[in-house]
Amino acid sequence: MMNDFKALEYKDGNLVFLDQTKLPLSEVYIETDDYEKIALAIEKLEVRGAPQIGVVAAYGIALAFKDGIENPKEHFFKVYNRLLNTRPTAVNLFWALNRMKIFFENNIDSNDLFNLLLNEAKAIHIDDIEKCDNIASNGLEIFDTPKTVLTHCNTGQLATGGGGTAFYVIKKAYEKSLIKFVYADETRPLLQGSRLTAFELEKAGIPFNIITDSTAAVLMSQEKIDLVITGADRIASNGDTANKIGTYNLAVLCNYHKIPFYIAAPSSTIDTSLNSGDQIQIEERSKDEIIKINGQLITKENYDVFSPAFDVTPHKLIKGIITEKAFHKPPFNFK
Ligand code: MRU
Repeated sequence: MMNDFKALEYKDGNLVFLDQTKLPLSEVYIETDDYEKIALAIEKLEVRGAPQIGVVAAYGIALAFKDGIENPKEHFFKVYNRLLNTRPTAVNLFWALNRMKIFFENNIDSNDLFNLLLNEAKAIHIDDIEKCDNIASNGLEIFDTPKTVLTHCNTGQLATGGGGTAFYVIKKAYEKSLIKFVYADETRPLLQGSRLTAFELEKAGIPFNIITDSTAAVLMSQEKIDLVITGADRIASNGDTANKIGTYNLAVLCNYHKIPFYIAAPSSTIDTSLNSGDQIQIEERSKDEIIKINGQLITKENYDVFSPAFDVTPHKLIKGIITEKAFHKPPFNFK
């Protein structure tokens, strides 16, 4: 593997992760054992991507027990609720925190809670690495011949605990000579595409262009895109999928141009408690992320903004959902 990097690891009593707000211009690592810093890092998108915030939150719970705690139950729920309220859309966060909660409740009387919780967090991390590997293998099914692919946001090592979801499918396909070229949507407003996916494509040696989000239609009309694949933040039982704002636009464009549109995500992204996507809570982000770039105003401060971080793609626009378990074809029914 050329120029590989570590996005996230547990090392010598600390969680160590790349500060994604600084990429790709600086590769700065944050090293912390403080759950409040971890919660802030999730809120500020220093760590991000649905599976990755789940893994990071699990480590945050464990690290909160590093020093002896007088009232473990009270402390657990203080930390749990802090992490639970960092971001509302990606269900992997709630999935991982719930797994830590069940584990804590089963071990509440132990006098070695830190090590037990740490092992559970490590198990969640390893589980995500394995899920990514299997998603990548299952995803190869969509490549019968070499393809030019378009993707949105970032779904690689910077978004998971392992190799990634949609990005890892692309990377594995490239290693098998099944990728001709990748177009990476820049992904306004936080530029996960032009900053993070471009960084990972460069590291993997995959040829690519960054495009503005509004360029996709032109490329599709010129028959330059063979397929689109993205990740997901939450998938309802009927297959409706919440992902980074702009994903729905791509799915509509694919439908018009008869281009297959795929989702790749671990099963921890599927929320079987929801029948359809209209029940998914969509995060709204601050106005500053739209009216400023690098802290500099680009429009008038008094202008109002509407900035949902995610949209929901209706299941009928999705040709397949790739999980670690299978390549799911419509009609989807994840109940
Ligand atoms: O706001 P972000 O950067 O956390 O949003 C991330 C996405 O929308 C990803 O596409 C999604 O989490 C899948 S990551 C494998």
